[in-house]
Amino acid sequence: MNQNEQKKLVAERAIDTLIERKLIFSGMKIGLGTGSTAIPAVKRLAEKIRSGIIKDIKAVATSFQTSILCEELGIPVYSMNGNKIQGELDLAIDGADEIDPAGNLIKGGGAALLLEKIVAYNARKYIIVADETKVVPHLGTKFPLPVEIIPEARISIIREIEKLGGKAVLREGVKKCGPVITDNGNQILDCLWEPEKDGTSPVNPPEIEDRINSITGVVETGFFTKNKPSIFIARSDGTVEER
Ligand code: A5P
Repeated sequence: MNQNEQKKLVAERAIDTLIERKLIFSGMKIGLGTGSTAIPAVKRLAEKIRSGIIKDIKAVATSFQTSILCEELGIPVYSMNGNKIQGELDLAIDGADEIDPAGNLIKGGGAALLLEKIVAYNARKYIIVADETKVVPHLGTKFPLPVEIIPEARISIIREIEKLGGKAVLREGVKKCGPVITDNGNQILDCLWEPEKDGTSPVNPPEIEDRINSITGVVETGFFTKNKPSIFIARSDGTVEER
C-alpha cells in the first residue's frame, strides 16, 4: 500500500472504529484537523452524517482548508467560543508530522498548528491518524519543528531558539513570494536540531514546548506533548495498529 492509500485507510478505519465505540456520537462537539490524513477522516464523517448514522454534529475546523471542506460537505462549523461549543470538545481527530514512542507529536507541516493545538488541548479525547512513515524514535532532527511567530519578533526569536540548540529558518511560500502567512496572519519558523552521535534525542519535547512558548513573540510551537493522543497507524501491509 502506498502512503496515500495508507492515509485513507487509517482515516476511514479510525472514524468507523470511533463510531462503533460510541466515541463519535450524535450531538457531539468534534474538532477536525488539517492535512492529507485529516481530510479523508472528515470525508468519512460526512458520509456517516449523510447516511443518518450520526446526527447534529457540532464541528470546529482547524484551518481554512478544513472549514472550506466542511462547507462543501455540509458539516456545520462553529467557533470554539460560540454558545454551542463553550471552548470544550468531546473529541478531536487530526494527522501528525512525527510521533515519538511517548506519544509526543510534531504538527504544523501545513502551518495550521495554532488552531490545531487550541482544539487538541481542549478536547476530552484526542485521536491521531497517521501512516507508518510518521513514527520516529525521537522528534526534531528530521522533520523541522514549526513555530508560529509574530513577524516583528523574527530575528530575536531565531536567536533564542539557537540558545536552545536549534536552527530556525523562515518558511517560504509556494506560489507566493516571501514567507508563508498563516491563517492567523503570522509567520512560521521551521527549527531543526542536530542528531546526537549516540542516537539519543537532542531535545526533550515537553520542556522545549514550554521554553519556546515563553519566548516573547512566539504564538505557539508545533510540539504537542500535553494531551496524549490515542493513535491509529497504517502499515504498508494494509494493517492498522492502535496505540
Ligand atoms: C497541519 O498543520 C499539520 O499539523 C498536519 O496535521 C500534519 O502536517 C499532518 O499532515 P499530513 O496528514 O498531510 O501528513
